[in-house]
Amino acid sequence: MSGKAVLKLEGKEYEFDTLVGSEGEKAIDFTKLRARTGYVGFDPGYGNTGSCRSSITFVDGEKGILRYRGYPIEEIAEHATFLETAYLLIHGDLPTAQQLDAFVSDVSNHTMLHEDIKRFYAGFPKKAHPMAVSSAVAGALSAFYPEHLDPAKDQDLNKAIIRLIAKLPTIISYAYKHSAGQPFMYPRNNLDYASNLLRMMFATPCEEYEVDETVAKALDILLILHADHEQNCSTSTVRLVGSSMSNLFASVSAGISALWGPLHGGANQKVVEMLESIASGEGSAEVFLEKAKSRDDTTRLMGFGHRVYKNYDPRATIIKKACSDVLEKLGIHSKLLEIAVRLEEIALSDEYFVSRRLYPNVDFYSGIIYQAINFPVNLFTALFAMGRLPGWISQWVEMHDDKGFKIGRPRQIYEGATQRPWKPLEERL
Ligand code: CMC
Repeated sequence: MSGKAVLKLEGKEYEFDTLVGSEGEKAIDFTKLRARTGYVGFDPGYGNTGSCRSSITFVDGEKGILRYRGYPIEEIAEHATFLETAYLLIHGDLPTAQQLDAFVSDVSNHTMLHEDIKRFYAGFPKKAHPMAVSSAVAGALSAFYPEHLDPAKDQDLNKAIIRLIAKLPTIISYAYKHSAGQPFMYPRNNLDYASNLLRMMFATPCEEYEVDETVAKALDILLILHADHEQNCSTSTVRLVGSSMSNLFASVSAGISALWGPLHGGANQKVVEMLESIASGEGSAEVFLEKAKSRDDTTRLMGFGHRVYKNYDPRATIIKKACSDVLEKLGIHSKLLEIAVRLEEIALSDEYFVSRRLYPNVDFYSGIIYQAINFPVNLFTALFAMGRLPGWISQWVEMHDDKGFKIGRPRQIYEGATQRPWKPLEERL
C-alpha cells in the first residue's frame, strides 16, 4: 500500500509518493524534492533518511528484532555457522548442503596471503593498532588482484568476495603476530573459519596447538551476531565508497576505518577498558554512571545506547548468555563480567537511562568473551570487522545489482562567508 504526502511550502502544495517496506516501514519519496521545490532535506546524522531499498537485514529497534534475510537472529545463532550466515547474506537464501560445501571449500582454498603482502607487515611499527593494519592490508588487496579493480567489468566478482572472506582472518592474525614479535602462522584449510583464526593467532611453530571447541563455537556465534546490521555507519561507508565504482577491496577497507571509531565498533575495546578501570579501583560502578550522566563530562557508558534500538539489543541478550556459558565452561571467574552485570542493573533502573531508552548493545558483553579467549584488547574491533565483512559485501553487491543506483552525494546548507573580494597579502592583518 502506498499513498501521498502533501507538503505546503511558500503558498504552494506539493504531492509526494510514499513507500511502504515489506515490514510496514514507511517513507516519503523525496527524490524529486529539490527539483520541484528548490529545498533539500536537512538531516544531519541521517536519523530520518532512508538511503536505499534493501532486502538483506531487518531491524525493529522498538521491539528489539533483528533478522537476516527474514530469519530471526536467535535461530541463526542457534543453528548456523558463520560461513553459512555469510552465504545467506550474500546470496539471499540458505545454501543447500552442496552449495555450502562448495562455499566453505572455496573460502578454505583462498586463505593464504600473497607472499609479498607479508613484507608490508615489516614496515608497520610493533605498536600499530590492528585496525590501521587491517584497513591498509585489506585495501592493498586491490593492488594484488587488478582483475577486480573495475566493478563494471569484473567477470569474477565472486572470487573477490571469496578472497576477502578467506583472507581477512589471516590479515588480522598477522597484525597480531607482528606486534607480538612471533612468526606468522600459515592458515590451515582443514579447520573451520573460527578455529583457523584461533590457530593463526595463538599457535606457534614450536608446539602442537589444539583448538578448544567451546572457544571456537563462542567465536563463531560472535561473528554471526556481528554479520550485518543494515545501514550503520561502516556499511553506509562501504556503500558510499562503492557508489563511485571503487572496487570491493577499497570499499571494505574504508568500512574497516569507519568501524574503528568508539561510537561504532570501537566500543567493544572501550567497554573492557571501562570495566578494567572500575576493577582497578579508579571508581565504583555507581561513580562511573554518575560521570556518564553528567552534562559536564564527556564520559559515556560504553556498550550502552543505540541509534536504532530503543529496547534491549537482541544480540546483547545472546552474547550475555554466551558469555556466562563460555566462562563457566572454561572455569574462568571474571571480575569484569560481575562489574558489567552490576552496571547494567543500576543503569536499567536509573531514570537517566530509562527515560532515554538506553540499553546494553552488542558491544557490552562481547569484549568479556574476547578477553576470556585471550585476544588482546586492541584486537576486539578487528574481530567485529571480521564478523561484519559478509554484511558489507552483501550490501555492496546489492547496491551494484540495482541498475538505478547513483553515486552517493549529499547536499549541505552552506553557512560560510558570502562572496567577498580577494585581499592581497600585504593588506591582511
Ligand atoms: N552513556 C550516557 N549517555 C548516553 C549514552 C551512553 N552510552 N548513549 C546516549 N546517551 C545520551 C546522550 O547523551 C543523549 O542525552 P541528551 O538527550 O540528554 O542529550 C541521549 O542519550 C541520546 O543520545 P545520542 O548520542 O543523541 O544518540 P545517538 O543515536 O546519536 O547515538 C550511540 C547512539 C550508539 C552513538 C550512543 O548511544 C553512544 O555513544 N553509545 C556509547 C558507544 C557505544 O556503545 N557504541 C556502540 C553502538 S552498537 C554497535 C555499533 O553500532 O557498532
